[in-house]
Amino acid sequence: MIIAIDGPAASGKGTLARRLAGHLKLPHLDTGLLYRATARALIEHGHDLADRAAAVSAARSLALTNFDETLLRGREMAEAASVVAAIPEVRAALIDMQRSFARRPGGAVLDGRDIGTVICPEADCKIFVTASDEARATRRALELRGRGEKVDYAAVVEDIRKRDERDSSRSTAPLKPATDAVMLDTTKLDVEGAFRAALAIVETVP
Ligand code: C5P
Repeated sequence: MIIAIDGPAASGKGTLARRLAGHLKLPHLDTGLLYRATARALIEHGHDLADRAAAVSAARSLALTNFDETLLRGREMAEAASVVAAIPEVRAALIDMQRSFARRPGGAVLDGRDIGTVICPEADCKIFVTASDEARATRRALELRGRGEKVDYAAVVEDIRKRDERDSSRSTAPLKPATDAVMLDTTKLDVEGAFRAALAIVETVP
């Protein structure tokens, strides 16, 4: 079974995907990490984020096993990831890796922005996770503070707004629900509530 979970920044899709994968004993791929790692490689080597050739080469050199998440989860890398993710050649360079992960025997859970629309249009179950802007900003601010970043709420609201706008308006694989995705609004749900609601959706798959 392939489960595709998409949604905007800080909607709770990552936590949800991890919980579902653990429960169903399926491997999980957080595809945002691929874009974050591409951006980090560029920055580390002193390249401009708009340097397409360098961005494509960084994306092609990624190996799924060598992510140091602690270096990728911060504010700066989220913003940079969204810039490189708008480059069509970068997205193309990352497709095979994601599809072969999804097609492992037994299935997989993938979360991102374009899993249900582009990476796995054939997924058995597609969930598009949303939450109000306020709920998402509150969660992201808590997460960043938990990681030791000093952030104020207004800056986080602005980050999320800018990133969603860029992710939704790009020409290649914009953030949008697949026509056959089930919408899940987590605004009023805690982690456990969101997990139960998602599991109920997964359980409707024949
Ligand atoms: O999900 P996360 O916040 O880690 O994603 C970081 C950025 O990577 C997103 O804002 C988006 O620009 C990009 N991304 C994407 N397609 C995906 C996953 C992430 O464009 N499937």
